[in-house]
Amino acid sequence: MGTALVTGASSGIGRELARLFAADGHSVVLVARRKPRLDELARELAAGGRVKAWPIACDLSAPGGIDALLEALGAENVQVDFLVNAAGVGTSGLFVESAPEAEAAMAELNVTAIVRLTRALLPGMLARRHGRVLNVGSTAGFQPGPFMATYYATKAFVNHFSEALAYELAGSGVSVTLSCPGPTHTEFGDVSGVGKSKLFRLQVASAESVARDAYRALMNGRVLVIHGFLNWLGVQLTRIGPRSLVRAIVAGLNRPPAPRGAA
Ligand SMILES: NC(=O)c1ccc[n+]([C@@H]2O[C@H](COP(=O)([O-])OP(=O)(O)OC[C@H]3O[C@@H](n4cnc5c(N)ncnc54)[C@H](OP(=O)(O)O)[C@@H]3O)[C@@H](O)[C@H]2O)c1
Repeated sequence: MGTALVTGASSGIGRELARLFAADGHSVVLVARRKPRLDELARELAAGGRVKAWPIACDLSAPGGIDALLEALGAENVQVDFLVNAAGVGTSGLFVESAPEAEAAMAELNVTAIVRLTRALLPGMLARRHGRVLNVGSTAGFQPGPFMATYYATKAFVNHFSEALAYELAGSGVSVTLSCPGPTHTEFGDVSGVGKSKLFRLQVASAESVARDAYRALMNGRVLVIHGFLNWLGVQLTRIGPRSLVRAIVAGLNRPPAPRGAA
């Protein structure tokens, strides 16, 4: 049995993934900012005595956050066999009206943290010729996303980075899997503000089903899993549709609803 480091373990898809690892007998390092949530999950997962669970509170977008996490791993002498980069945030609305700090923090979390954690933990996995990396990208990463411009761009990075890395590592004993969920019931809708858009009135998946799909793909060494047939179809259509049409459709889905009473 191995140990999985799961970022974003305090909520949504990351929390469900942590539960799946523990159910299979893997120990878990649970990472997010909200320590009480991590402590509660750690108690739940370690309750049967089969696995260990280390809750580590860490702001992955803050300066020094990742160094502190890596130090904590070293101090606990934890060897990571599975790296799950699930932590992510979104913002919505016109980019020019956004809070600059929030946009920058999103890029730090959604992009830089994944690069730094993967770069830090890969050498050990390669030396052991054993390891698996799961990055949670998004169907958002397959096209530009007006009204969520920075978020979609960060997910395009995650998608491309993960697939490229999977190719580079083929035959090394270490696999990289990219999970691309579409709209999913988690705290993301509220945190990003996109939860009231048309996008979230389409089919919305459960965090449990997305996590199960991603976990299965990870354990089978698959490179890419797009959750659900409609999401898969949507991705194929964006590949063949004219870019101007794709941009307009995505804008319509993401556009924040007009305030009540507005003309
Ligand atoms: N829900 C969707 O519709 C959807 C669709 C496609 C892709 N995704 C992707 O799925 C992944 C998981 O999101 P989710 O839907 O499960 O949303 P969620 O319920 O909001 O979970 C996000 C997780 O990220 C953690 N996080 C946020 N900021 C952090 C920071 N600065 N440092 C460390 N951890 C941080 C949160 O914990 P704390 O707040 O405790 O730090 C939380 O555990 C994200 O990468 C998201 O982009 C979501």
